[in-house]
Amino acid sequence: MAEFKLRLRRYDPESGEPPYWDKHTVELDPHRSVLDGILEAKDSQDGTIGIRCSCRQGICGSCGVRINGKPGLACNTHLDEALARGDGQEIVVEPMGNMPVIKDLIVDMDAVHWRKIQSVTPWLLPREPVPEREYLVAREAMVDVTQSMACIQCGACVSDCLAMEVDPLFTGPAALAKAYRFVGDPRDSEHYERLRYVAEDPHGMYTCTHCFKCVDACPKDVNPMGQIMRLRRIAGTDFEIEDRNNGFRHEHAFVKNIHRNGLLHEADLLPDSYGGKFDPRALPELLSSIPIVIKGVLRGKITPTKALLHPHKASKDVRAIFERIEGEPARYELNLYVTGTDDPPLQGAGDADSGAATEGAKR
Ligand code: SF4
Ligand code: SF4
Ligand code: FES
Repeated sequence: MAEFKLRLRRYDPESGEPPYWDKHTVELDPHRSVLDGILEAKDSQDGTIGIRCSCRQGICGSCGVRINGKPGLACNTHLDEALARGDGQEIVVEPMGNMPVIKDLIVDMDAVHWRKIQSVTPWLLPREPVPEREYLVAREAMVDVTQSMACIQCGACVSDCLAMEVDPLFTGPAALAKAYRFVGDPRDSEHYERLRYVAEDPHGMYTCTHCFKCVDACPKDVNPMGQIMRLRRIAGTDFEIEDRNNGFRHEHAFVKNIHRNGLLHEADLLPDSYGGKFDPRALPELLSSIPIVIKGVLRGKITPTKALLHPHKASKDVRAIFERIEGEPARYELNLYVTGTDDPPLQGAGDADSGAATEGAKR
């Protein structure tokens, strides 16, 4: 047994009082969870502490909180581990971010998380004709969506999403991972419509800034950012959806930029995203970026030499990467979540497919 100091952020919006910090000391085995610590404090010291939980085994997703500034499941984080991750003195527990607080550590998942999940039609829209018994689906196709199916809807990724902080209407990592769960499912009949919806939405998949925060936050290794990148690749490459937000062309402008310069040459990025410097669509964007350019020049971040000339050229190595990727006959995506091998076949089962290595999906 050891003593652990918990510092909890308390807030009751209905009280009219501002948030405050509340300290409790609990004595528990170090391998017990932060949730156990909070429940101990609630049981023995202050019954008014608000915390949501159910399974206490990392399955139901209801105990999402921020522990020492990082989102995660309170029931899935050991007390000693949480202490080591902080300042070594106390464990700081706060409600998740990007969602309004209902009370103390409980946030309003309905107002944000579930509303976004609903927006992506989170159920299968079956391909016709619906078979009398069941669809037969290639094994690899289901392996491909396993990673997004592992989501337990805890909201940890939503809590830390930087794009959502700037644009609260952004569909967000969890909902977009859910969208991929059906776009990747061959039984679904609405792949194009689903992709078009998240591409055309001004707060859709192109709002993601690749910050990796959702990847780090997810306790189930769903890799929401990876699922968003898959949605983009399928929308742009397979369905050729050129969205009104210019997301597709902007991505291509990045690729062209690196192909040419080896490093990102910002001066080309904006015009290239709109079809080149002389495309009429680029003009209003270029004019609206003049104040930013002036700031950049004044701070020495942009110089006329750098803007007009291309001081960097793509190296041989960078060109070799492009040649290799462009030379591939088909895009190959590895589902990094599922690795290793299945259980060995049962004696006498006679299933030729059992025991085969589980691997990623091709598109
Ligand atoms: S990678 Fe994209 S979706 Fe994930 S947290 Fe960052 S901005 Fe949000
Ligand atoms: S993707 Fe991960 S972090 Fe986000 S809601 Fe699902 S399980 Fe939680
Ligand atoms: S209580 Fe269910 S995941 Fe923590």
